[in-house]
This record gives sequence, structure tokens and C-alpha cells, in this order.
Amino acid sequence: MHTPDVRLVPARVEHLDVWLEMRAGETSRRLLPLEDLPRESLLRRLKEASSDVMDLRATNFRWMVESEGRIIGTVSARELSRFHGRVEVGYMLAEGNLGRGLGTRAVALLLEQLFTIPSLYHVWLTTTVANLASQGVARKLGFRMEGVLRGHCIVQGERMDQQVWGLLRPEWEARRGALSLEPPGR
Ligand SMILES: CC(C)(COP(=O)(O)OP(=O)(O)OC[C@H]1O[C@@H](n2cnc3c(N)ncnc32)[C@H](O)[C@@H]1OP(=O)(O)O)[C@@H](O)C(=O)NCCC(=O)NCCS
Repeated sequence: MHTPDVRLVPARVEHLDVWLEMRAGETSRRLLPLEDLPRESLLRRLKEASSDVMDLRATNFRWMVESEGRIIGTVSARELSRFHGRVEVGYMLAEGNLGRGLGTRAVALLLEQLFTIPSLYHVWLTTTVANLASQGVARKLGFRMEGVLRGHCIVQGERMDQQVWGLLRPEWEARRGALSLEPPGR
């Protein structure tokens, strides 16, 4: 079976509409604690995000996920602390691209980029307890569940628990060889 290519490209302001569309997707709305942010606020985030992990001033990063010439998702990392060696990651695919392994590959490429930061040791993420696909991605990439934040967020009016998952550098180094990774994106 044909495996679609997946690569990361730097997020730019031109990606605002496709990002808004992803956030409005049925699955994202049902499973993610997304706040209804105005367009300008997301635009500002795009402008402020870096895609250069070697830029020592950058703490927030975003790439878009491209497959077969189309933007199909986005991956991000925020509040990087080079001192503590930690960063929080996030990811989202557009509706119609789910459940085909593309999320796992995109997040693996994100981790490849991030772990080029010499001091990085702990990558973490949160996911709602209902989000089995997100938990599946985390598990496949070697993350471990580190705890539960009780009643930590609201999704479509319902208060929900959020899981915290974490991946340490040696765990990633042990796992990455088993994954077939595309070369890092531009
Ligand atoms: C979360 C997301 C990025 C996962 O990407 P994906 O391409 O759909 O997931 P994958 O196909 O790589 O699946 C990874 C694993 O998760 C599990 N999984 C995937 N979809 C699932 C589902 N709907 N229900 C239960 N488990 C699922 C499987 O175990 C799978 O492993 P397998 O292929 O070996 O069986 C994607 O579903 C998405 O963007 N969802 C909406 C936004 C979102 O939830 N973002 C994450 C916020 S924390």
C-alpha cells in the first residue's frame, strides 16, 4: 500500500485559514480543550512562533504538516526552557487525515527537530482522557503517562480530566531507531 510522505514546513501567516479550519474540525472540537480565540490572536501566535530550534531566543515553535503537497496538520512546541531542558508539545491533523499513521509520523518528525537542542531532556504533553488517538500517538512514540490533572479543562461545556505524558531523551533515543523517519523538514 502507498504510504503518503509527511514533512514539516515552517508555519507562516498564510497558514492561518487552514489552521482555523483544523481547530473547527469535529474531532478537535469534541476532544480538545480549545478556547474560542479570535483570528488576530492566532495570527499573532503564527507571527511569533519560530521554526528554527537553533535560535537561542525562541521559546515557541510551530510547523505545518505537509503531505502530498497539501497542508494536513500542525505540530508545535511551547515554553521551551533551555535551562531546565523541557518543552511542551501539541499536534493536530485536519479532519479526513486521521487514523492513518500520519499523526505518529508528524510528531516523530517534531521530536527529531526538538532533540537536536542539546540541553533538551523532557518533552511533555497533555491530552484529555477521551482522546484515545492522541494517547495512541504518545504511547507509540515512547511517552509514558506521568499523571492526571483532575477536572483541569472544559471541552464543549463538560469539565474533564487531562493526562500528562512525558518522554525523556534516553527513551526517545531507544525508540527512534524502530520508527522509519523522513528527513527533517525545512
Ligand atoms: C491525535 C492525532 C494527531 C493522532 O494522529 P492520527 O494520525 O489520527 O493517529 P495514528 O493513526 O498515528 O494513530 C496512532 C495510534 O493511536 C491509536 N488510535 C488512532 N486513532 C484512534 C481512535 N480513533 N481511537 C482509538 N485509538 C486510536 C492507535 O493505537 C494507533 O496506533 P496503531 O496504528 O498502531 O493502531 C489526530 O487524530 C488528530 O489530529 N486528532 C484531532 C486533534 C487532536 O486530538 N490533537 C491532539 C491533542 S492532545
